[in-house]
Amino acid sequence: MSVWCATVVLILWLDPTLCRRISNYDVRLESLEKIKVDEETLFEFNLKLIGRDRLLNGSLISHVDMDEQYDVWIDIATFKNGEWMPMNLKIRTKPCDFMKNIFGKYYQPSFLDSNLPTGDDLCPFHKGEYYAKNVAMSTDNWPSFTIKGLNRVSFSFLKNGKIVGGFVVVINLFDRNT
Ligand SMILES: *[C@@H]1O[C@H](CO)[C@@H](O)[C@H](O)[C@H]1NC(C)=O
Repeated sequence: MSVWCATVVLILWLDPTLCRRISNYDVRLESLEKIKVDEETLFEFNLKLIGRDRLLNGSLISHVDMDEQYDVWIDIATFKNGEWMPMNLKIRTKPCDFMKNIFGKYYQPSFLDSNLPTGDDLCPFHKGEYYAKNVAMSTDNWPSFTIKGLNRVSFSFLKNGKIVGGFVVVINLFDRNT
């Protein structure tokens, strides 16, 4: 079980076997926005959703090596009865754990045409410009605690408690057409 899943299980008080199941949902990316930075932007996300299939496309510029002095925060809210309800799911982690256990496991497999790091190169995440072309997100590796319907996930990268980059994505999870 990944550290990330273990943390989530702890926070939400879920059955740990959940972490071994995969999601039964398909996902559609509804919107993607940059997060507002506090002062300077060190991680620039120039990503957008293109076409009818809303594929993820664009570039990401890291102006610094993302070493362990940074923090990575992930916050999830779900849309219920007409409003965003924060889920009791706040992930507070470090770049290496994020890259290896979250990005590497759940997202990276969908980045087929990209120069984003893989495997042993996931961390530390080096300064540079990265691209991602026409990425169709697959939920195959996702743990099943993701909730059906609209979910808003914020990824914030912080240095000394100040936001230096990040993005907010709204995803729609719906039953898989089989
Ligand atoms: C998709 O991203 C690539 C890489 O950043 C870029 O060259 C291309 O212009 C983008 N395509 C669209 C339609 O925005």
